[in-house]
Amino acid sequence: MTVRFSIFTLFPDMFAGPFGESIIRRAVENGKVQIDIHDIRIWTHDRHRTADDRPYGGGAGMVLMAPPIVEGVESVLAGKPARVLITSAGGRTFDQEMAQELAAEDDLVLICGHYEGIDARVTTLLDAEEVSIGNYVLTGGELPAMVIVDSVTRLLPGVIDDASIAEESHQDGLVEYPHYTRPAEYRGLAVPPVLLSGHHAEVAKWRLEQSIERTRTRVQTSK
Ligand code: ADE
Repeated sequence: MTVRFSIFTLFPDMFAGPFGESIIRRAVENGKVQIDIHDIRIWTHDRHRTADDRPYGGGAGMVLMAPPIVEGVESVLAGKPARVLITSAGGRTFDQEMAQELAAEDDLVLICGHYEGIDARVTTLLDAEEVSIGNYVLTGGELPAMVIVDSVTRLLPGVIDDASIAEESHQDGLVEYPHYTRPAEYRGLAVPPVLLSGHHAEVAKWRLEQSIERTRTRVQTSK
């Protein structure tokens, strides 16, 4: 099964680097994901290819217009159902649970917000959800869309080692324990002796304790 991402953006060239390397590139080549980048301006209606305009009611900045986005998404989906997400600093906060949810879908649409935002009728007409990747403001929704694609793609069967997913941070509500590799001592810092002991149960116990401690000190529970 291939998961299709349809990304709508004013800046299609931004995606080539992050999707053209490493694990995401391999996932595309192996048919695990299809990532289609659509330039919103294709569906504009005037010769200047205008995709944004001033907000009704006044105020700073520009707002992305509804018609090019709604018509673009409808034309690409051609009646197929899909989960539609709009990147927005004011949306629901994206997390590992949502990444898992999205990894179970066949068709995902990501609309990259820009400027002050998107005409609110897009959300209504496309039955979309607004998603934020964290409590900070970016210049646009392209980086958030890349983050979402990356975190979902790596969860798809066969993209990375299943054991890595089972053990990693956030998967079981805990962040990961610290890792060490050779050399056993570096600049006076020794690897914790339990890791060299060969005692699997002791290693597992130490790692769980470390995970619990890291989760306690590092993870904000906003729920
Ligand atoms: N657009 C601007 N900031 C954003 C954020 N933190 N998440 C999603 N979209 C955004």
